[in-house]
Amino acid sequence: MRRTADSPEAGPPVSPWWQDAVFYQVYVRSFADSDGDGVGDLEGIRSRLGYLELLGVDALWLTPFFRSPMADHGYDVADPRDVDPLFGDLAAFDRLVADTHNHGMKITIDLVPNHTSDQHPWFQEALRAGPGSRERERYHFRDGLGPDGSTPPNNWTSVFGGPAWTRVRDGQWYLHLFAPQQPDLHWEHPDVRADLVQTLRFWLDRGVDGFRIDVAHGMAKPPGLPDMDPRAVTIMAGSNAPDFVDLRFDNDEVHDIHRLIRKVLDDYPGTMAVGEIWVDQEERFAAYVRPDELHLGFNFKLVEAEFDADSVRRAIDRSLAAVESTGSPATWTLSNHDVVRHVTRYGGGELGTRRARAMALVELALPGTTYIYNGEELGLPNVDLPDWALQDPTWERSGHTQRGRDGCRVPLPWEGEIPSYGFSRAGAAWLPMPPQWGALTVEKQLEDPESMLSLYRHALEIRKTAQGFGGDELEWYGAPPGCFAFRRKGGGLICALNTSAASVPLPPGEILLSSGPMDGNQLPPETSVWLV
Ligand code: GLC
Repeated sequence: MRRTADSPEAGPPVSPWWQDAVFYQVYVRSFADSDGDGVGDLEGIRSRLGYLELLGVDALWLTPFFRSPMADHGYDVADPRDVDPLFGDLAAFDRLVADTHNHGMKITIDLVPNHTSDQHPWFQEALRAGPGSRERERYHFRDGLGPDGSTPPNNWTSVFGGPAWTRVRDGQWYLHLFAPQQPDLHWEHPDVRADLVQTLRFWLDRGVDGFRIDVAHGMAKPPGLPDMDPRAVTIMAGSNAPDFVDLRFDNDEVHDIHRLIRKVLDDYPGTMAVGEIWVDQEERFAAYVRPDELHLGFNFKLVEAEFDADSVRRAIDRSLAAVESTGSPATWTLSNHDVVRHVTRYGGGELGTRRARAMALVELALPGTTYIYNGEELGLPNVDLPDWALQDPTWERSGHTQRGRDGCRVPLPWEGEIPSYGFSRAGAAWLPMPPQWGALTVEKQLEDPESMLSLYRHALEIRKTAQGFGGDELEWYGAPPGCFAFRRKGGGLICALNTSAASVPLPPGEILLSSGPMDGNQLPPETSVWLV
């Protein structure tokens, strides 16, 4: 069903649904497998919508399920307007959209505009057509340097390791900021822009509520593709080295593309876009969420913060400052499919879990939009996978020096005592699941009021129903070293975190929820609390 600008909506303007929504990121391969091939799929997600409703999230973000040879697990798209048979088909997608809406949740999907798959018809045509052809103009093909052209056209490296250029048979090179199977599109080309508009409308007409824009700080490249200072690196889970400019990303022309996206979305009231924006400087970040660009920008400052009150507070202040003058709410993320899961980042084991519980309450107390990565609500740790199991292109591209992101992508344990814990009818999931995960299944955790899952459910319920969460400003209280406390200015909720080694007095108020047992009326180490 197509929603249009003229569908009447009664009453005064209300704040948009995403303003303080809790999104749940479904890494499609790893959520639930309905057909027994060991890989998650759309029907699998549909079969678990009841769980997501029970958890209490407002919206889903699905990682790519489009036609793809899966060189980067779907972020290499061969047809952006079809479902890969591995995940289902368009009819399954339509059923999923309808059922998600019936469960009272919104559904948003990934959009991958920076590059295509090397199997995309455009790239195949470009290879066939040869140097100097119009077909090559949709990508960045160049002659190499040196007498025989055997040196790449510039010194850029790929985010996954190695040069950002690959040479084709006729001697030309093409640019890929990620894997060689992900050639970068040339965004000056009108076909590229027109195709994106078509893709947006295709999915909007099928009823999606929005998009997550992959590498939203990519796409535009500087004229002439000059060499860059190799010390400037923007990598996933890293930040800009402040003194050097990474010419591969965050070029000003990218904002035209976001304005184009926004124009299409404005034809579909109630829809939104969130950009994946690995841009560290606040004012550069803010530009992406100007009123005529994206509705939301992922910032990764909480992902980058240590479990330390000062570090977390700085991340919060900087995130709020980045959107302060934009009218766009802040977004909060502790983990996603590209970074080490936070239970592990915080030290792993019981300690990591305790800290992850504390940070869950901090994150969910903050004003703005929150993204929960699937499995985070179960407290899943990163998995140390054996070499043979690794599939992330980073592993090969880095010459086996970086293990890549598979460890945070291990499928979810649903029930039972042995792998694949109800994830798949097949015994084996696409990544091996640890033998200890019987203790972490949804089934187990639903029964246990002290589980991570129960904490998330409880927190999400309070967040939905309690008064304290209004307004988008914070005020900080004075707090002992290693601790902080803030109050939501509009609603009055207080959140206190203790990352020090000793129990500390609580701010005044009535306790709504704590991440762990209290020490009398003191807040113990590695614990957070909500008060009103
Ligand atoms: C984004 C995705 C990541 C993918 C990359 C290339 O950073 O989150 O998973 O590998 O883009 O598309």
